[in-house]
Amino acid sequence: MIFRTIVAIGALSVWGAGLAAQPQVPAPAPFRPNLLPMPASIEPRGGGVRISDGFSLTFAGYREPRLDRAADRFRSHLTVRLGRGIPTTGLQVRVTVAGPAGGDGSHYSAGSPDESYRLTVRPSGIDLVAPTPAGAIYGFETLFQLVEIDGGGLSVPSVEINDRPRYPWRGLLLDVGRHFEPVAAVKRQLEGMAAAKLNVLHWHLSEDQGFPIESRRFPKLHTKGGTRGYYTQAEVREIVAYAGDRAIRVIPEFDMPGHSTAWFVGYPELASAPGPYHLETRFGVFRPAFDPTRESVYRFLDAFVGEMATLFPDPYWHIGGDEVEPHDWRANRRIRAFMAGHGMKRPAALQAWFNHRLAGILAKHGRRMIGWDEIMDGDLPAGTVVQSWRGETTVSQAVVRGFPVIQSWGLYLDHIKPAEEHYAVDPTPSGFLGDPGVIWGGEACMWGEQISGRTVDSRIWPRALAVAERLWSRAEVTDVDDYYQRAAAVSHALAERGLGHESHTRLMLGALAPPEARGALAALLDLAVPVTFPERAELQRPLTGTPHDRLVDVASPDAWRTRRSLSRLVDRFLADPARQAGRDSLTMMSEGWRDLAARIGALTGGDAMVADARPAAEALGAAAAAGLASLETLAGRHPLSPAEAAQVRATADRIGRPQGLLRLDVRPGLTTLFAAALALSGMP
Ligand code: ACM
Repeated sequence: MIFRTIVAIGALSVWGAGLAAQPQVPAPAPFRPNLLPMPASIEPRGGGVRISDGFSLTFAGYREPRLDRAADRFRSHLTVRLGRGIPTTGLQVRVTVAGPAGGDGSHYSAGSPDESYRLTVRPSGIDLVAPTPAGAIYGFETLFQLVEIDGGGLSVPSVEINDRPRYPWRGLLLDVGRHFEPVAAVKRQLEGMAAAKLNVLHWHLSEDQGFPIESRRFPKLHTKGGTRGYYTQAEVREIVAYAGDRAIRVIPEFDMPGHSTAWFVGYPELASAPGPYHLETRFGVFRPAFDPTRESVYRFLDAFVGEMATLFPDPYWHIGGDEVEPHDWRANRRIRAFMAGHGMKRPAALQAWFNHRLAGILAKHGRRMIGWDEIMDGDLPAGTVVQSWRGETTVSQAVVRGFPVIQSWGLYLDHIKPAEEHYAVDPTPSGFLGDPGVIWGGEACMWGEQISGRTVDSRIWPRALAVAERLWSRAEVTDVDDYYQRAAAVSHALAERGLGHESHTRLMLGALAPPEARGALAALLDLAVPVTFPERAELQRPLTGTPHDRLVDVASPDAWRTRRSLSRLVDRFLADPARQAGRDSLTMMSEGWRDLAARIGALTGGDAMVADARPAAEALGAAAAAGLASLETLAGRHPLSPAEAAQVRATADRIGRPQGLLRLDVRPGLTTLFAAALALSGMP
């Protein structure tokens, strides 16, 4: 790992190399800036500069207003961190941009700038050099991540960073069709994306449950489909401009021919069955589908794309294409006759027909088609981009057929998996022998069934940072401990910039839980996470109108601090069970859980949040008892009694399961501990 090597060299050279000859002085801390995504190359130079005493910012080369605004944001982020304004003279920060686009754009044909930059910090000043504005915008982000609070001021270590992304397409999908997200919530995600160097907002704008965007040409789309909220065209322009300022492109997705009920509420004539149609309130896969056999449908879509293309300047356009339920096609005699007349045996052939027509309309409006991997089930126009979601094999299938790929399989944030699971998903399958350039990158996906404007930040951040690093940094950057440490620092910086994920639990408990329960519930949520997406769908069966005010909504998805520290403590303890210190830490932790379970058990009254906590609290009490018995056994006092063994085994079986709508995020460490205790007692 090159970074590790450089860190080791850096440890000798930065922050007072002159002290090396004085053995009584502790070694300087290793050079370990909290950069995320990790840059391609970073070389510490020793020493640093103080930026809070004042700096002047000058531009050379190509200029555009976006660069001035990026500089203003940089200064304003520093001001927030410092708590006071910073003089505009002093240290020189020189930004040089070669041109508007630069690079050869080789990874994809339209709009792919060279995103590289070089950042040099030395006592004489800071130089940021980039071929394009995008590179300079990323360079500002890296510079901000380098800033350290130091003796009441802010300083930056001397360093040279040469950076460029591994993949050109680094996205976040935001589904606003199932739950509408206000403009401010969308902007917050864009701010987080900017910090993480994510460069594509994939805006999922139509669903069975909603059509949240204004169409002047077809106003019944939003007046009837957007009753749960919609963006005016002025707001869409504002969001696209806000994204553009941060070097983020906005790709609209209008999902067709399935997932399309909301279109038909106002325009039933587009559909394959007569209707009438109502916005769907449930979640799942439903029958309504466009009628691909009618010319009037294509005239409508031509006019619609023409209108929307004035709002979304990006050359790429997502047609959806996923999970088409063929029921209404099969039930329609005219559609059946059309299929027979065109020799189409399967619904996939009809969808392929639809896709070809759509690709033609998009091409007329200067747009290139992206679709979910189901669109490969039939013949597909050359040049289509395939977004993989159903499994790694769809990546290979697309590549074999010559389609560029955006990978989202394994990157679904709504599945409520720990960041480390997403971190382990490489967009390029292992052993891949093809041209790596055909895998354009990936997208973290935030589907909207189980989120609201209040919870969305906590569902995306900080876990999206894991995907951001995988998409930007070299494939060798895989150290999970190191990732979590840097992500914690960057997560704080995101909170400074207005993201609500860190204050989420406290604010929601403050609003919704009785005062006497808040402390205990917050402590429980340090180690309990929401159940997974399918579990919640099954256990709660949420609808569009279901309030997001349960303890599951208050919980954050990754209790990594507890989970990982427990595993580490258990590993250390098992390496030397006679060591008192290791045992004491685990005993204290278990006793803390026992007391917490008792505190929650003792809360009276019928409060809903407390009721939500009870199953997890009860399971935690059982885990604590089984943990304490296992520790006793392993420290050599006595084997588990048959009753204890039965209890430990039952707890081991239960520990990873849903407790109400929560799950205790302590399974790996406890499973190891319980297995060792049972084995030592001769009862594996
Ligand atoms: C999808 O998750 N249906 C793309």
